[in-house]
Amino acid sequence: MKKIQILGLLLLGSIIYAQKIQSPSKSIEVDFNLDNAGKPNYSVLYKNKKVVNQSFLGLKLKDGTDFTSGFSLQNSKTTSVDETWQPVLGEEKNIRNNYSELSLELIQKSTGKKLNIVFRVFNEGVAFRYEFPKQPNLNYFIVSDELSQFNLTGNHKAFWIPGDFDSQEYAYNETLLSEVDNEKLDLNNGIGVKSIAAKYAVQSPLMMKSSDGIYLNIFEAAVVNYPVMHLNLNPKTFTLQSVLVPNAIGDKAYLRTPSVTPWRTIMISDDARDIVGSKMILNLNEPSKIEDTSWIKPMKYVGIWWEMHVGKSTWDYAGSQNAQNTESKELIASGKHGATTENTKRYIDFAAKHGFDGVLVEGWNVGWEDWFGNWKEDVFDFVTPYPDFDLKAVNDYAKSKGVKMIMHHETSGSVANYERHLDRAMNLMKQYGYPAVKSGYVGKIIPRGEFHDGQTMVNHFNYVAERMAENKLMVNSHESSRPTGYHRTYPNYIAAEAARGNEFNAWSNGNPPMHETILPFTRLLGGPMDYTPGIFEIKMSAYDKTKKEQVHTTLAKQLALYVTMYSPLQMAADLPENYEKHLDAFQFIKDVPSDWQESKYLEAEPGDYLTVARKDKKSENWFLGAITDEKARQTEIKLNFLSPNIKYEAIIYEDAKDADWEKNPKAYNIKKIQVTAKSKIKLLLAKGGGTAISFKPIN
Ligand code: NOJ
Ligand code: CA
Repeated sequence: MKKIQILGLLLLGSIIYAQKIQSPSKSIEVDFNLDNAGKPNYSVLYKNKKVVNQSFLGLKLKDGTDFTSGFSLQNSKTTSVDETWQPVLGEEKNIRNNYSELSLELIQKSTGKKLNIVFRVFNEGVAFRYEFPKQPNLNYFIVSDELSQFNLTGNHKAFWIPGDFDSQEYAYNETLLSEVDNEKLDLNNGIGVKSIAAKYAVQSPLMMKSSDGIYLNIFEAAVVNYPVMHLNLNPKTFTLQSVLVPNAIGDKAYLRTPSVTPWRTIMISDDARDIVGSKMILNLNEPSKIEDTSWIKPMKYVGIWWEMHVGKSTWDYAGSQNAQNTESKELIASGKHGATTENTKRYIDFAAKHGFDGVLVEGWNVGWEDWFGNWKEDVFDFVTPYPDFDLKAVNDYAKSKGVKMIMHHETSGSVANYERHLDRAMNLMKQYGYPAVKSGYVGKIIPRGEFHDGQTMVNHFNYVAERMAENKLMVNSHESSRPTGYHRTYPNYIAAEAARGNEFNAWSNGNPPMHETILPFTRLLGGPMDYTPGIFEIKMSAYDKTKKEQVHTTLAKQLALYVTMYSPLQMAADLPENYEKHLDAFQFIKDVPSDWQESKYLEAEPGDYLTVARKDKKSENWFLGAITDEKARQTEIKLNFLSPNIKYEAIIYEDAKDADWEKNPKAYNIKKIQVTAKSKIKLLLAKGGGTAISFKPIN
């Protein structure tokens, strides 16, 4: 208290207004003030220690309005909220939303224009956003810059990927902030389209750890009608400055009052589990706009997919992306096409036999001969199948087996074309009863000049989710901008890729063993990821002896990912014939659900390890996933999350003693033991390994 008074005296004269607000737990405090030039700024304390130094706020508008200084306070309000709500699908049946709010109404004397800044302080972090109230001098306007600062207090360790306006499909770098440098990156990494913004630009979520053990994460929530925010780092002062993704002519956002920006978020804790388990991003999004959500269902699926990624078959009918073959009207079949009626029936049979909900088929529709790399506008029409794919026969067969088909819409980045065809594409889905679509945005965007992360594209991804919702269809987008919790508002947007998925292991330098220990602290904070785990044939030399690529995990870790990598849409990504060789391990994938009653993060350290236990939403069964990075790991887990007085059979799928992601990835053991809530289990994880456990009550 004394300290605050002294600080107040010292600053008196240099500030014209100051107010602080604390989290409900009081461990986080935001100090907001207007300095003597009327510049809004804030700092953040965690357990009485500065974690964000004085950071300035504001925006610049294209009409010359400078919303960074000259403000005075018109009004301020504080409120608090403590409520519980139920997501349609999720990691928890009930989500608590508990925060203190400070809302500041500012006015700029020179222009008479008004801007509000609103802070929400949760127990695990801070959020703020700008609001543009309805006012006589501001109606339609263009944001040309947002100048939000995050002035960090030290040279933290950071898990970062370059600030790229077109892609997040990078492996993470783990370095000090002072070592961030995009010019030193090896960009031979399999990413199709790259637009790295600047030498020191990084993406959010940016996960960090200070030398005194404080975890910090900077991100955003509810990105709606606004571009994605990247961060520009000053590697000497450790200041991060917002970078909004521009449109084709350099503008950032077209808005009209009244409107709001997305929330800018800073998660803070001395326990990494608070960050990885946080529901702050979801809580900052609007409640569901879909009234009847009964048709939104979790799904486990298989598909004609990995076989193309490993080179066994092709998406196109005429040979491996062979556009030469398209000059005559009649396509000449290469014999390598994956999406044939016959092959699809094989996957349907496999799905039905093993209890999967859906089958995805990629490459079913014409256009793949020259789909990529030509910046071509009309690639796909999303309704015309290749001659060897009988839409009706496939769907009748799936229905007869009780399996749903999952539609695939690769747009190749031609959004203009996709939007033109969207109604026809959805009608086809409804005609045959497809409940869900996987969409893809590989390639440079059309309208030309737009980036994947600009306002136009953010609006496109959200628009597709909204239109699909009108038609009771679910969406899983790949190469979209990364989610920021909008699936609370449109729960039919059940998953997205928007990060480096398992597919990169098939044909590039892949994902290092630490990759999956970072994603839950970064990409997954915004929403479920269609990571496509479950690869059992780890080395690509199994398909072609000359291939060196491999999945950088053990087989047991691929099982654990179904628990550590939350998604209500989970693929069993490998080929049926590979699962048939390991039906005992495959049993875990068959058993694990994808919608949960509750989740317990038991152990967490970004870049090193993660152990999660989750309870099935529909039964008393629990599932545990533990993963490690390139280091082997031993740990002991208390099973006190289990219900007391119940005896469970635990089936443990673990790395064999001599397992190693590189040298011996397929070596695993399966053990059955009886446990109760009082038991402890020792876990032994190989290098790049993992453990998966199912717990079922014994009656
Ligand atoms: C990239 C997606 O991430 C991948 O899953 C898909 O198979 C290809 N695009 C083709 O659409
Ligand atoms: Ca992808």
